[in-house]
Amino acid sequence: MATSYNPCTATVLLFLIIPITTAVASLHLPSFDLSSNTNYSGSWKLLKRSVGVSAMHVAPLPPTDKLVAFDRTDFGRSNISLPAGRCRDDAQDQALPHDCTAHAVEFDPRARAVRPLTVRTDTWCSSGALLPDGTLVQTGGFNDGDRAVRFLSSCEDCDWVEDLEGLSARRWYATDHILPDGRVIVVGGRRQFSYEFVPKVAPADRTVFALPFLRAAKDASENNLYPFVHLAPDGNLFVFANNKSVLLDYANHRVLKNFPDMPGGASRNYPSSGSSVLLPLMTFNRSARGSTVKAEVMVCGGAPPTSYSMASNGTFAPASSSCGRLAITEESPEWEMEEMPVGRVMGDMVLLPTGDVLIINGAARGTAGWGLGREPVLHPVLYKVGGIRSNESRGFEVLRPTTTPRLYHSTARLMVDGRVLVGGSNPNIRYVFAGSLYPTELSLEAFYPPYLDPKGSKTPRPRITSVKSEWKYGERITIGFQMKGGEGEVAVTMVAPAFTTHSFSMSQRVLVLEAAAVVNCSSSSGGFCAAEGFAPPTAAVAPPGYYMLFVVHGGVPSGGKWVHVE
Ligand SMILES: *[C@@H]1O[C@H](CO)[C@@H](O)[C@H](O)[C@H]1NC(C)=O
Ligand SMILES: *[C@@H]1O[C@H](CO)[C@@H](O)[C@H](O)[C@H]1NC(C)=O
Ligand SMILES: *[C@@H]1O[C@H](CO)[C@@H](O)[C@H](O)[C@H]1NC(C)=O
Ligand SMILES: *[C@@H]1O[C@H](CO)[C@@H](O)[C@H](O)[C@H]1NC(C)=O
Ligand SMILES: *[C@@H]1O[C@H](CO)[C@@H](O)[C@H](O)[C@H]1NC(C)=O
Ligand SMILES: *[C@@H]1O[C@H](CO)[C@@H](O)[C@H](O)[C@H]1NC(C)=O
Ligand SMILES: *[C@@H]1O[C@H](CO)[C@@H](O)[C@H](O)[C@H]1NC(C)=O
Repeated sequence: MATSYNPCTATVLLFLIIPITTAVASLHLPSFDLSSNTNYSGSWKLLKRSVGVSAMHVAPLPPTDKLVAFDRTDFGRSNISLPAGRCRDDAQDQALPHDCTAHAVEFDPRARAVRPLTVRTDTWCSSGALLPDGTLVQTGGFNDGDRAVRFLSSCEDCDWVEDLEGLSARRWYATDHILPDGRVIVVGGRRQFSYEFVPKVAPADRTVFALPFLRAAKDASENNLYPFVHLAPDGNLFVFANNKSVLLDYANHRVLKNFPDMPGGASRNYPSSGSSVLLPLMTFNRSARGSTVKAEVMVCGGAPPTSYSMASNGTFAPASSSCGRLAITEESPEWEMEEMPVGRVMGDMVLLPTGDVLIINGAARGTAGWGLGREPVLHPVLYKVGGIRSNESRGFEVLRPTTTPRLYHSTARLMVDGRVLVGGSNPNIRYVFAGSLYPTELSLEAFYPPYLDPKGSKTPRPRITSVKSEWKYGERITIGFQMKGGEGEVAVTMVAPAFTTHSFSMSQRVLVLEAAAVVNCSSSSGGFCAAEGFAPPTAAVAPPGYYMLFVVHGGVPSGGKWVHVE
């Protein structure tokens, strides 16, 4: 939804068509002058100097504000102990066969409290998704974990429950996505040109389906790992690997469409790790219903195909600065290319409650892999998508830098309060705190996007005062909220909780809801208003599960509230 805030009438906003500019792609180093500007928007706060493990994988635990962070069981001794009697014995472990330290923790951002969790199988370079009931399902990894499926719920004393035979194929560097029917698809992995579904219920669920596209996208450096997978609003899956992409009808196991190669001369997937998001889905046009909601995918950064091999030989090539947008629901879409202000490999793309995209973490040279990244990019970049708010065009803005490099095995994700949690970085094969160019990071930071800048916005944050927590598809919804002055349009957005690792947030999506009206606000009401609108139309537009709901006023989001759609 996006409506003009007008206390007297309910005005449905007109969306402007923003002219598309096509830039010629090239590879180059930072083009913005870091020394001339010290007045960047955004700010940083250290949340915890050490959570004991390196946040290589992170996921939220709805409906709480907590999250889980974990690395790998064969990293050696972490900086947080397991509770007594819970040591892990594994003769195959490459680092420490008898390990009494934790490799997963639950983090409560309010109390900044850390609770060690017990993960028994190796989660190194694994994947995950949230089931409709909010349980994290977590798949694959290395060694004894390569066929494991693990579950974690948000309850007070919950810990991992592991099924060692949960996957039919070994999967390391695969990508998961929640589906409209509540199952999770697991796509690819090293030397796995196939997909399967979890959790397994019936014997037939053990079937593995071939996906030759992943083999075709493979090159000498295996730039087909952690493929970018997005669920299109027509229920098909967009799968991107290297510079190629397809639309997959996973229900009938058919590739429906091969999209054009992405230009830019870069590989975009691990180890050339760029990142990708599904741009905001505008579900405001009720007459259009689910299947005609338009969808666009964006892919940013990466590295030239030879970069990994060059970096392994000690030459660190510049990362790609190009981004591409592809309208995947169009008949014959072409990539529309744009240039970031700075080249970036191993960046994370984070969808914000405003619908804009934050590009954060990573390096300007080299690739993912042990010790292969150079020149950390400390500045996040904000990408304004255009077309969400009236009169707003596309574009990049360089934001305030951090002081902590976040390279290989770093993560970034949206917090329920609208900040962005940033953690991890370990380009070392073990925990290394001294004597390394980029030591292992156990810290968690919060990045405050420009909308949280006290000086940056004239509009105070709105506040959601009432909304029901259980939503049905397409039903009418009333959201009570308070606007404390300021001006601008009101929008209601929903952000799906993602599983984040290796520069990609799996199942990440944001919906801009259809709204019929903003009603009942007046200066005498203390800024209390109601937004009347509609829940997402279908499970393909919004797979079942928890979403963070935000009211955005003048580009400033409220704190989020978990709502459950099924
Ligand atoms: C810093 O940025 C803010 C917001 O963009 C602007 O209002 C202010 O004038 C800038 N200050 C300087 C010294 O450039
Ligand atoms: C982790 O523990 C080691 C050994 O006690 C210590 O030297 C190191 O500083 C700790 N690292 C962090 C980031 O706290
Ligand atoms: C895509 O990648 C392949 C393999 O590296 C390469 O041959 C092809 O030219 C690339 N396509 C474009 C448009 O760059
Ligand atoms: C809404 O969807 C209908 C049906 O697809 C279409 O005819 C109409 O133009 C759309 N309206 C807007 C404002 O996009
Ligand atoms: C890196 O070194 C290996 C082994 O010497 C060689 O085969 C490979 O071609 C080199 N890669 C590049 C990009 O120079
Ligand atoms: C958008 O721009 C047009 C033309 O400049 C202006 O008339 C209109 O009021 C603007 N709309 C908003 C919501 O700012
Ligand atoms: C708006 O106010 C009217 C009159 O007080 C009330 O009947 C109605 O329920 C309110 N609507 C919402 C959505 O709060």
